[in-house]
Amino acid sequence: MLQEGKLYIGTSRKPDDSINKPEYLELKFGNRHGLVTGATGTGKTVTLQILAEGFSNAGVPVFCADVKGDLSGIGAIGEAKDFLVKRAEQIGLSPYDFQEFPVIFWDLYGEKGHRVRTTLSEMGPLLLSRLMNASDAQEGVLNIAFKIADEGGLPLLDLKDLQALLNYMGENASELSNQFGFISKSSVGSIQRELLILEQQGAEHFFGEPALKITDIMRTTNDGRGAISVLAADKLMMNPRLYATFLLWLLSELFEELPEVGDPDKPKLVFFFDEAHLLFNDAPKVLVERVEQVVRLIRSKGVGVYFVTQNPLDVPETVLAQLGNRVQHALRAYSPREQKAVRTAAETFRPNPDFDCAEVITNLGTGEALVSTLEGKGSPSMVERTLIRPPASRLGPLTDAERQNVMNVSPVRGLYDEDFDRESAYEMLVKRAEKAAEAAEQAEAQAAEEQTGRSRWTLPGFGDDAEEDARGRQARPRSSGYQRETIMEAAMKSVARTVATQVGRALVRGILGSLKR
Ligand SMILES: Nc1ncnc2c1ncn2[C@@H]1O[C@H](COP(=O)(O)OP(=O)(O)OP(=O)(O)O)[C@@H](O)[C@H]1O
Ligand SMILES: [Mg+2]
Repeated sequence: MLQEGKLYIGTSRKPDDSINKPEYLELKFGNRHGLVTGATGTGKTVTLQILAEGFSNAGVPVFCADVKGDLSGIGAIGEAKDFLVKRAEQIGLSPYDFQEFPVIFWDLYGEKGHRVRTTLSEMGPLLLSRLMNASDAQEGVLNIAFKIADEGGLPLLDLKDLQALLNYMGENASELSNQFGFISKSSVGSIQRELLILEQQGAEHFFGEPALKITDIMRTTNDGRGAISVLAADKLMMNPRLYATFLLWLLSELFEELPEVGDPDKPKLVFFFDEAHLLFNDAPKVLVERVEQVVRLIRSKGVGVYFVTQNPLDVPETVLAQLGNRVQHALRAYSPREQKAVRTAAETFRPNPDFDCAEVITNLGTGEALVSTLEGKGSPSMVERTLIRPPASRLGPLTDAERQNVMNVSPVRGLYDEDFDRESAYEMLVKRAEKAAEAAEQAEAQAAEEQTGRSRWTLPGFGDDAEEDARGRQARPRSSGYQRETIMEAAMKSVARTVATQVGRALVRGILGSLKR
């Protein structure tokens, strides 16, 4: 069953139920993406688990989200439960070996895994707008905010940085509007309120430093297995937009950072996008187009994206068309929409003369699926009715203690656990405000002095001094304005330098608006 260059998925059956042949996913087509669909309880998570196991054993790192907590068991060795052993016998999987896998747990909230963060600068205006469900006017203001920050070298690390920048924009709306385009004060205010809501929803945990380095989700072990990054997503699912935006950000990071590799003999990383409907649920058209673009282009960076969702109609057609490896579990066909889903799912397969796809889809058992993968020169194999192999790791969750043990020996232990608050927009704008206040104070003091001075020196007969005084008064507003600008400019320049030396690049944004390297 174990063949070089191939990942064993399960064994197909003939119409008379006898064994047909083993079904594989060819690793060299692993970057041609995939789709796992099926109604609830039909075996999607287990399929994801066995695919992740297979990739890991082949040395391919995997990233996946654990939506219900039941995927964490992949970090523990499986047990020979009766129904699993029976399945193994049924499909001729012999020997049926058990194995634990190298897992790295991640968690945006830092509770069930290592912290995952990114900065607002990294994420960019497009995804942030999506996260906030921003109106067009708000999106316009956010675009300007990022422009000011990018051009001025004001790092937007966390939510308070953006709040501070928005304050500044509100205060200087008319001057900034001339330079960057119209800034509506009411939109600024409404974004600020939205940011507070985001904060209350826990998004503040996610924005800051140290930001996740993608090399940490692309690790392999000394014995050549790919690490499986498991994102704890049960709590995260309560904020579906944050979940979807985070995964999109990660995908765009991978896309922007990884080099072109063409078609490698196995993927560099496989990325499972569970609950994929959340990604596309009322997403604006432009975002869907960009996602489609990223999915298409990321293939040549060696990244395979596998969407996992209940209904194939959840995924836009343009994206669906790019998913080469397919595992379709059972669907129900009661409502018209369900019937349409069955038809769509059936039509996308290369037909098998032995059976009618649409009919079989509604009759598949648990852990059984219609499977078609890419073969030969990259064309889809004829669809087969397949019993999916049982996992080698544990089916079901880890205990808290087991999870903690895994985290204690994790290769990223200690790298992300503490927040790091370096000087960024918030601190810089606070400093600017302080300096401005100081300058204003100085100017006031000077004015007071001049006042008293004037009463002293404008005494009749001291004409020279009166002239000087008039010059002083004229110069004052200009000088304080100038003062403010210099501080701002100096601060911007110094940070631009830090940013530039730190990452060695100008701030350029990619397809999904995240920073490009
Ligand atoms: N390949 C398999 N081998 C053995 N048992 C399986 C297999 N696939 C699924 N099962 C059984 O079916 C149960 C449900 O599968 P799973 O949790 O993968 O469903 P699901 O489609 O992810 O459901 P949900 O949509 O509710 O998350 C498993 O707990 C397991 O008992
Ligand atoms: Mg599941």
